[in-house]
Amino acid sequence: MNMIIAPSILSADFSRLKDEIQAVEAAGADWIHVDVMDGHFVPNLTLGPPVISCIRKITNLPLDVHLMIQNPEQTIEHYQDAGADWISVHPESTPHLHRALGLIKKRGTKASVSLNPATSLESVWPVLDELDMVLIMSVNPGFGGQQFIPSSVQKIKNLSQTIQEKKLATLIEVDGGINQQTITDVVKAGANVVVAGSAIFNQQPYQKNIEGLRNGAV
Ligand code: DX5
Ligand code: ZN
Repeated sequence: MNMIIAPSILSADFSRLKDEIQAVEAAGADWIHVDVMDGHFVPNLTLGPPVISCIRKITNLPLDVHLMIQNPEQTIEHYQDAGADWISVHPESTPHLHRALGLIKKRGTKASVSLNPATSLESVWPVLDELDMVLIMSVNPGFGGQQFIPSSVQKIKNLSQTIQEKKLATLIEVDGGINQQTITDVVKAGANVVVAGSAIFNQQPYQKNIEGLRNGAV
């Protein structure tokens, strides 16, 4: 399977969001990664369903919605109505992870669980068979532009090994501190979907940044 590159619009210029999304689409992005933060689960506050509905209208790329919000099971349907194709939820954010995943899948949205750097893989084993993807956070969620946490590589390797042993088709996504250097080891370890915010949006041209990531992965 080819590697999927998902630019995180957290690092885009929000005053020109439409242009920014269309620019990364033209530059070869595969998905658009949308970071939803509620100021509680993480210290930062970003955007929600109304903005996602607007994004849905201006791109056909899959919308990969990363929910960093408390009790996501209470509002998942709003993100589905807004047009999310993929929804990631954090087990640290809810006592009802299995219910949240059921709600995501009930309406045909792809379901993913996202793990903070200090959360062990143990928390996905009970639900692994239900998942379309596991998102390994390689920074502490909340902000773009942070430094990659190297222990994520071993976590991806262990997860990849289990997915292969169980003959599952679950994707592995990695998010945080990815650049043309750090991408090499995460892809070698088994990541299929790579999120990058600052490495794509912080300098022009976007096409060169995305190609640089693809080159770093081989
Ligand atoms: C962090 C977000 C990431 C972030 C990545 O909480 O989940 O998606 O935008 O940004 P970079 O690639 O700059 O680390
Ligand atoms: Zn994210």
